[in-house]
Amino acid sequence: MNLTEYIESKRDEHLNELYEFLRIPSVSAQSEHKADIERAAKWVADKLRTVGLEKVEILPTKMHPLVYGESLRAPGKPTILFYGHYDVQPAEPLNLWTSPAFEPAIRDGNLYARGSVDDKGQVHIHIRALDAIMKTIGKLPINLKVMIEGEEEVGSVSLWDFVNANKARLKADALVVSDSGMIAPGVPSITYALRGLNYYQIEITGPSQDLHSGMFGGAVPNPITILCELFAKLHDKNSRVAIPGFYDDVAKLSKAERKNLKALPWKAGDFKKTVGAPGLTGEKGFSIIEQLGARPTLELNGIWGGYTGEGAKTVIPSKAYAKFSTRLVPNQDAEKITRLVERHIRKLLPRTVKFKLDVHSQGDAWAAPYTHPFFEVAHKALEKGFGKRAVFIREGGSIPFVTQMHETFKVPCILLGFGLPDENAHAPDEHISLENYFGGIKAVAQFYEGLGNL
Ligand code: BES
Ligand code: MN
Ligand code: MN
Repeated sequence: MNLTEYIESKRDEHLNELYEFLRIPSVSAQSEHKADIERAAKWVADKLRTVGLEKVEILPTKMHPLVYGESLRAPGKPTILFYGHYDVQPAEPLNLWTSPAFEPAIRDGNLYARGSVDDKGQVHIHIRALDAIMKTIGKLPINLKVMIEGEEEVGSVSLWDFVNANKARLKADALVVSDSGMIAPGVPSITYALRGLNYYQIEITGPSQDLHSGMFGGAVPNPITILCELFAKLHDKNSRVAIPGFYDDVAKLSKAERKNLKALPWKAGDFKKTVGAPGLTGEKGFSIIEQLGARPTLELNGIWGGYTGEGAKTVIPSKAYAKFSTRLVPNQDAEKITRLVERHIRKLLPRTVKFKLDVHSQGDAWAAPYTHPFFEVAHKALEKGFGKRAVFIREGGSIPFVTQMHETFKVPCILLGFGLPDENAHAPDEHISLENYFGGIKAVAQFYEGLGNL
């Protein structure tokens, strides 16, 4: 049996194993899931051992453990570092799931579960590809290092320290990641750019305690009103971020790149349907693809304060809060952006309230050329898995490790993504297309095999 036939013959086995992984609620943001995080790390470590990796270790960090394993038995062949994450986003709001988030279910050719596409399903694609190689070829044709982390969804806070302390261990000829998407169904895609992310939380305090809004309303500052006024001032009428200096370092897209992006097989109609809003907004002067992949943004992620329970409660709250983030592009500097954001907020807020700004995580964008010979191997492999030549895309999401690895080792980063824009990553009813899952296993197996033949 060749690789593809073997993979095809094991469809049920692939899925049953993935179900086990998906049943573990490894939510990195919620401390009540600490034990599940540990369980998921152990599950990954066991699987890495099963597919022939050696020295598989679960490495503790300040937050959630990393799983690391390697197989260095192919002298003269490339050394690849494969990275992914076993943690997932919170499943809430639970009542909006058609079937429970941690009980995998198949409907209409899709597998539904939290983590199915981001990123457990895609990590599992690699595990099954390695299994197929071991079962058909009998050994790995390349040197492989695998690192699967447990804090990606909360900003990979422990990673910098780990990378810096383990440079020799992580050194490789290329980084391979499957934690991104395809531009459209049936169109295999290689991502060459990601946005960076800074994540903030602001707390605004007015009165020292909640006050009766009849006895005090009219004379005291309301922190929720002030918070709303603040956020209303952070964009101008062309949907640009109204923070002085915010765009100063933004790299301009070349004419050639704008042309390439324009030629991608991407349909505005599909995008609008996925979004489901009555209309779209966006920075004037840029196409939607450019707005999503090559332009920075500021987004409110959550806002709360005061009374939000049943019925009425007449109160002027003492505090108001918001979580917000900035997506960054080359050549913005994450720390400089934090300073600009802080300075502008300080300037805008009235002296009638106090504020505290916490920076949860910071990360620069990543963009890189795709001329290394490994990319041609990826092309051939994706063509075998999906029957079509791949396109090169920018993605708007962020993967801090990719930026860190590239900055540290300056090696090619090959992002083979198998998600689709409408698969509800981070939302209820997250799913992965079975076609992409199985196609992914085939493509990745071909990719590792092809790298061994270079
Ligand atoms: N897999 C995503 C990143 C992604 C999404 C890349 C879509 C390409 C296309 C990743 O798990 C993620 O969600 N990252 C976070 C960043 C983090 C610092 C919390 C994100 O982008 O919000
Ligand atoms: Mn991910
Ligand atoms: Mn994610």
